[in-house]
Amino acid sequence: MSDVYAALAPALAGSTVTGAASLSALAEHELATLGHGDLPRWQQALAALPAVVTRSELDHGAPRLGAPADDPGALRDTLMRLHPWRKGPLCLGGVEIDTEWRSDFKWDRVAPHLDLDGHTVLDVGCGNGYFGWRMLGAGAKCVVGIDPTPLFVMQWRAQAHFAGNLPNFVLPLKDTQLPCDLAGFDTVCSMGVLYHRRDPADHLARLMACLRPGGTLLLETLVLDQPGEAVMVPEGRYARMRNVWGVPTPGNLAGQLEQAGFIDVECVDLARTTVAEQRSTDWMRFESLPECLDPDDPSLTVEGHPAPVRAVMRAKREQGERAAVGRRQPGRAEQTTKND
Ligand SMILES: C[S@@+](CC[C@H](N)C(=O)[O-])C[C@H]1O[C@@H](n2cnc3c(N)ncnc32)[C@H](O)[C@@H]1O
Repeated sequence: MSDVYAALAPALAGSTVTGAASLSALAEHELATLGHGDLPRWQQALAALPAVVTRSELDHGAPRLGAPADDPGALRDTLMRLHPWRKGPLCLGGVEIDTEWRSDFKWDRVAPHLDLDGHTVLDVGCGNGYFGWRMLGAGAKCVVGIDPTPLFVMQWRAQAHFAGNLPNFVLPLKDTQLPCDLAGFDTVCSMGVLYHRRDPADHLARLMACLRPGGTLLLETLVLDQPGEAVMVPEGRYARMRNVWGVPTPGNLAGQLEQAGFIDVECVDLARTTVAEQRSTDWMRFESLPECLDPDDPSLTVEGHPAPVRAVMRAKREQGERAAVGRRQPGRAEQTTKND
C-alpha cells in the first residue's frame, strides 16, 4: 500500500477533527484498488513528471506550483495525458493550464463569505483540488478534499508533485464513504455536488456530521432563480447532463438546510454561469456550456430549461449538544454518478 496520505493525520493533529486515521487508511485502500481503464496511462504520466524544485504561490487565480521545468514542451505533453482538465486555471512547473472552468470566478464569489484563517476544511466533491490551494492561500490550516473521480485524484497527485508537502489532499471517496468517526471540521464545503445526489437530505446530513458545533457550511449548487419553494426535476437531461436530479429555488434550498438542522442560513451569492466561465479549451476538448445553451435564446438550455444559475449558501452548525438533535442521520450508501 502507498503512503500518499501519510501526512494527512499529522496535518490535522491538534485540531478538533477526529477520525483522520481511519479516513487516511480508507483513502489508501481506495487508491490502491482504483479501477479505471485509463489508470495505467495516467500513472505513466505521473511517473514521467520531471524533477523540479517544489514551491507554491497560492494566492493567484492560477496557483503557481513548482519552479519552471527545463523542458516546458515535454511537460505540457505529459500533463496533456491527464486530459480533460476541468477545474483551474493552474500553472504547474511553469506550464499554464487553461481548464474548462474558470474556477477562479467561483472562488471570487465564495471567498468573501468564508473566514478560513487557521481552519480545517472538508471539501466534499472537490474535483482535482484547485479550491484547496486557494483555501490554503486564504489561510486554511489543512484542506481535506474527497472526490470519487479517479482522474481528478491523478490530477491532484500531479499538482502535489510540484507543490511539495502542503496540506491539501484529494481522497478517492464519495460522501457516502466518509467514516462515521470523521467529525469536527471548522468548515465544510460542498460545491457543485447537491444536484448530483438523488437524496439531497442525506448529503446535507453527512455534511452536518463532519462539522464541529459552531462550524460553517458553504454550499454551492444550481438553483432555479425565482421566488418561492419550487424544485425543478428535469426529465431527461439538464444542459446535456444526465445526472441532475433536482434544481431548487434558493428559498427551497434554505428550507432544506434548515430541515437538516443548520442555522443562520443565508444565500450570499447568485450568479448565472457565463460562457466565459465554462468553455472548451485546449486542455478540455469536449463540448462545454456554449454547446449546452439554446443558440437562439441563451437564457435557456438546449432542452428548454432555464440556463444554469448557481447559488452560494452559507449556514452554521449550532453550538452545543442540541446540534445533534432532530436532524436526519446519514443513510445507507447510494449510487452516485459522473462529474461535470
Ligand atoms: C460539478 S463538479 C464540482 C467540482 C468542484 N467542487 C467545483 O465546484 O468546481 C462535481 C464533483 O462532485 C464529484 N462527486 C459526484 N458524486 C459525489 C459524491 N457522492 N461524493 C463526493 N463527490 C462527488 C464529482 O466527481 C465531481 O468532481
